[in-house]
Amino acid sequence: MAAIVVIGAQWGDEGKGKIIDYLAADADFVVRFHGGNNAGHTIINSKGKFSLHLIPSGIFNPRTKNIISNGLVLDLRVLIKEIEEVEKAGIKVAGRLFISPRAHLIMPYHRLLDALYEEAKGKGKTGTTGRGIGPAYADKVSYNGIRLGELMNPKLFTEKLKAQLLLKNKILKALGSSPLKQHLIEKDFAEYRKKVQPYILETFETLNNAIDKNKNIVFEGAQGVFLDNDWGTYPYVTASSILSGGLTHNAGIAPQKIKNVLGVAKAYTTRVGQGPFPTEQSNGIGDQLREVGKEFGATTGRPRRCGWLDLELLRFAAKINGFTGLAITKLDVLDNFSEIKVAAYYEYKGKKVSYESLETMDLGKIKPVYKKFNGWKSSTKGLSKLGQLPKEAKQYLNFIEKQIDVPIKYISTGGGRSETIKV
Ligand code: GDP
Ligand code: IMO
Ligand code: MG
Repeated sequence: MAAIVVIGAQWGDEGKGKIIDYLAADADFVVRFHGGNNAGHTIINSKGKFSLHLIPSGIFNPRTKNIISNGLVLDLRVLIKEIEEVEKAGIKVAGRLFISPRAHLIMPYHRLLDALYEEAKGKGKTGTTGRGIGPAYADKVSYNGIRLGELMNPKLFTEKLKAQLLLKNKILKALGSSPLKQHLIEKDFAEYRKKVQPYILETFETLNNAIDKNKNIVFEGAQGVFLDNDWGTYPYVTASSILSGGLTHNAGIAPQKIKNVLGVAKAYTTRVGQGPFPTEQSNGIGDQLREVGKEFGATTGRPRRCGWLDLELLRFAAKINGFTGLAITKLDVLDNFSEIKVAAYYEYKGKKVSYESLETMDLGKIKPVYKKFNGWKSSTKGLSKLGQLPKEAKQYLNFIEKQIDVPIKYISTGGGRSETIKV
């Protein structure tokens, strides 16, 4: 396997957690490299069902070491709770989880500002997860952030917090919110400092050496391509760089060291939050996809918007990330549809157009041109061999593979680890 980057090819929730848990069976390292607890990665295995927001999805394989890189923003309250939950399931975390001191902290004012910005935007809101992600990254790039390593120096932390509260409390007050008290934040963070200190380690050398030795490393993407801050449907995006190319600054890995990039896509499409969604089905089909696919957010519980697969988006995702393979998930959710549609390309004002040529606002106006497939009307749930798939399902998958020009390497037929076809 060597080093592989796993990237969500749609708007997040593609089943990355499930696929990474499957791949992690052979992994020396699993590395989360961007985002924060806006992510919710569901894993179902012999230990139970888990929704991981910060801990990498390799934690359930005893020999896998798990790294949280510099590219993340960390809500330590959530991280500590998650460590406790995983430990409660009998998983050893100590000595298997390492966190970069360069990761930035999500502070209480980031969560408040996230909510206040959304409220101010009214109908034009992004529909964030409310976890303080955007404000924390904004502080990082404007040199106002506080890093995990700085928390370990109590005096420095106090000084930096004081300077930030001077600013942030003015903003909070102006927006009608109560100011925050330094001593209360310090009390909480003193507790966090003690609890996370054992996990902090700069793993640059270890990780680079492991790549050079051809060890199995899975880089665990969060969110999905169309939530990328630059190439997604801005401003209906998240704050981090999601693409495979982000690994250099997000995890300290030179681009030529990564040869394998796996794109994960559902056999249809979903999106949570606001923003354009060309193949959305706001009708009985969308309702059926949501109901059968249990499409409710793993982080916020919000119902996901549902629609048909969009090959224009997948083609773009494949190109910009350099996908060398695809994992198609949730095939089983389509089992009972008599007709399945897939957007083959887009038309705008009567002409064929590409995703990247369109402004976000125009993406809401294009016409997806669909190809229709006969459904297979039989259960694929839990299948683990390619030969077991009905012929109509194979036709559907072959079409995707041909259009994207990337081989399908995994097909997922259920949320459990074993419900996977390795092609
Ligand atoms: P992630 O954010 O990409 O890791 O995806 P989420 O965990 O947020 O959402 C994926 C959901 O689909 C979870 O509830 C998974 O348990 C479930 N899931 C993953 N793969 C499959 C599959 O092949 N079939 C079905 N029915 N469910 C799946
Ligand atoms: P995983 O890793 C789906 C969406 C939010 C919102 C936008 C910005 O589980 O696939 P944010 O809180 O990041 O500022 O919200 O991004 N979003 C996700 N949607 N899956 C995710 O993660 C997401 N993380 C953020 O719904 O539209
Ligand atoms: Mg998710």
